[in-house]
Amino acid sequence: MPLLEKSVHEAIPGWAYWEEIQALYEYAMKAPDGNFAELGVWAGRTAIPLALAAQDRNSKLFAIDPWESENVTHRHVSWQMNVAHEIFLTNLKTLDLERYVYIITRPGLHAAAEYPLVHLQPLSLVHIDAVDAGWEHFALLTVWWNLLIPGGYMFVHDVKKLPEGMGHESGRPDMGVLRATERWELLSGVKRHGETLGHWIYRKEK
Ligand SMILES: C[S@@+](CC[C@H](N)C(=O)[O-])C[C@H]1O[C@@H](n2cnc3c(N)ncnc32)[C@H](O)[C@@H]1O
Repeated sequence: MPLLEKSVHEAIPGWAYWEEIQALYEYAMKAPDGNFAELGVWAGRTAIPLALAAQDRNSKLFAIDPWESENVTHRHVSWQMNVAHEIFLTNLKTLDLERYVYIITRPGLHAAAEYPLVHLQPLSLVHIDAVDAGWEHFALLTVWWNLLIPGGYMFVHDVKKLPEGMGHESGRPDMGVLRATERWELLSGVKRHGETLGHWIYRKEK
């Protein structure tokens, strides 16, 4: 069984806290048989744990990100998108995870249109961390939820206010993401199944 090691994941730049990473990994290990997808990979801080679970379950992670926006400030450092992408690719290679990850270098809505046509395996977990405000985030929730199989899980990041003293830099919640997620809940009638420090978790009923 691959080990999820705190030191390995804290060495990868990104915004997810260890408690969030552990929860993603645990749910990926208990989800029904199927593939996983992540929308918003950046340097892979949450994608690598999902790839480890995919390795253990002999499934695949669809790592979806256009990697094309402007520089991002992280811990007071300005990062170029291509540097974050390179870190992800290097870690996949070093950890021998390449064969468990299928990279789609396009926005999440394009990838959703392609997924059912090309990938016949069912989808059992999706992590949405693309920080797309407003209607695009709402559309991501709608289309990726529809691709999930019964019993599958959807994690939505950046919807919660972090405890005092945490997350000044991350600016959570992202108000556009929060409002669009609440609107999706209202219109779809889907109820929350659980949460982490920064995610709401939904489970598709059987
Ligand atoms: C906050 S970062 C992801 C952080 C990462 N999951 C982590 O834990 O460190 C957001 C990423 O979403 C990507 N992104 C932006 N729009 C997107 C879209 N429409 N579909 C997929 N990814 C998108 C950006 O390129 C960026 O790399």
